[in-house]
Amino acid sequence: MTIRLKKEVIDILKILQKKGSEVLAADLAKELKIDYIVLMSAINNLIEYNLGTFKEKEIHQVSLNNEGANYLKKGLPERKLLNILLENSIKEITLDDFLKTSNLDKNIFYIGISNLKKNRWISQSKASGESKIYLTADKFPETNMEKFLLKFKDNPIFDYSTLSKDEIKQLDLLNKRKLIKKHHKTKRIINLTEKGKKIDISKIKELKQVSKITSEMLASGTWKDYNLKSFDVTKPGPLLKAGKVHPMIRLINEIREIFLSMGFTEIRGPIIESAFYNFDALFQPQDHPAREMQDTFYLNNPKVAKLPEKDRVQAVKETHENGGDSNSHGWGYNWDIHTAQKTVLRTHTTATTIRRLAEYYRNNENPPVKVFCIDRVFRNEKVDRSHLAEFTQVEGIVIDDNVTLCDLIGILSEFYRKLGFKKIITRPGFFPYTEPSMEISVYYEKMGEWLEMGGSGIFRPEVTYPWGIKNPTRVLAWGQGLERIAMLYFDRDDIRDLYINPIKWLRSQPY
Ligand code: PHE
Repeated sequence: MTIRLKKEVIDILKILQKKGSEVLAADLAKELKIDYIVLMSAINNLIEYNLGTFKEKEIHQVSLNNEGANYLKKGLPERKLLNILLENSIKEITLDDFLKTSNLDKNIFYIGISNLKKNRWISQSKASGESKIYLTADKFPETNMEKFLLKFKDNPIFDYSTLSKDEIKQLDLLNKRKLIKKHHKTKRIINLTEKGKKIDISKIKELKQVSKITSEMLASGTWKDYNLKSFDVTKPGPLLKAGKVHPMIRLINEIREIFLSMGFTEIRGPIIESAFYNFDALFQPQDHPAREMQDTFYLNNPKVAKLPEKDRVQAVKETHENGGDSNSHGWGYNWDIHTAQKTVLRTHTTATTIRRLAEYYRNNENPPVKVFCIDRVFRNEKVDRSHLAEFTQVEGIVIDDNVTLCDLIGILSEFYRKLGFKKIITRPGFFPYTEPSMEISVYYEKMGEWLEMGGSGIFRPEVTYPWGIKNPTRVLAWGQGLERIAMLYFDRDDIRDLYINPIKWLRSQPY
């Protein structure tokens, strides 16, 4: 039977047969210019066919470090010092003078002195008061350490295992003097088996790798010569970087779809709003802190807003002053039209739903009316990880007869359920324009926390009566922060991310 092998396996066989001895994997990879992984898989093939063997061997090698190499070239410090003494015929010298004439680094000088003493070539005495050294020998043969050092001359790096006992002793001494570098390597050795040595390579057929078999291959029978490449079908495909809708727009579209599917109609209103619609029509007293400059952006241009029909302005004025015909006492102060004419950047989209109440009045409409609004609002707020000065509200109202808080809870639960938030909780809240009022929180599984999403309630008679909406017709109202919803929806813990557009996050988002 003919053996079929991949090209690189055949190449390895050829090299091994030519060399006739074992070869290192690293050398093979270099010679064949193939990747190490490809090489190892080829070697596995050799082993599989009982053509080759593979073993690993730990190798411990030593070489001189920079300082050691320097001593090999120029001599050990003790030899250098000795030469100074001999060249200048010095038999005794103070340590200080010796240091000066030696021109050596202080540390190296003392290493040299201590080794001169060890070799018994000098002695040191303080007898004359100063520390002096005396030459005490007349022969200075090559030391064992010097002999050993020379070994590195022809062989800068060699196997530890080739050293004799005495050489190991010298190596240890050099090592103590911090002149040695140690190397640990694993050698991967490949050799041929008897079968591998004998096999006639010209009889081996090359096994080609293909990723698919063609009909020609099937018809001619050559498909047998091929090896089918395997595919990892679990690997992700290449990343597509095409343009896409911004995630916030995607979320807005989804919210829009939800309200539409629940029978609501979308409304929009102006961003530049009168204080009248933003505050007064909401029965927010004119000295209410929310109206102050710290919270609200007032505009210089246009400075004065257009107000609705005189009689409607009058009706709102009366609810503030004495409750008008709403059965309330009002706030009991003198309402000022100029304050209501101020222009602001809308602080909430409730201004827009109130405009819808005005339209309901003008058109003499009948219930039910169900509208929603997803739009920009502005507050003079310090920006941080959970606050923006410019953000978006998701607002809605239902004008209908005999509707109750239960209907409101039902609508909100259904809305959040459709968005994927299963658990919501409502708590008593306060707004000047609703009674009763509720705050809505959503359960955030990941944090195990309730997060506040916004407010809601039933508009007070002081808000609805000026627009002719009276019992049993009531207005359910709510306003939620879109960015708050988005943080949960997209699992972002910094609200600013939604508009800073971190590219990595945008890329990870679906189309
Ligand atoms: N306007 C409130 C806000 O901006 C939300 C709200 C809307 C509350 C409608 C009650 C009714 O927080």
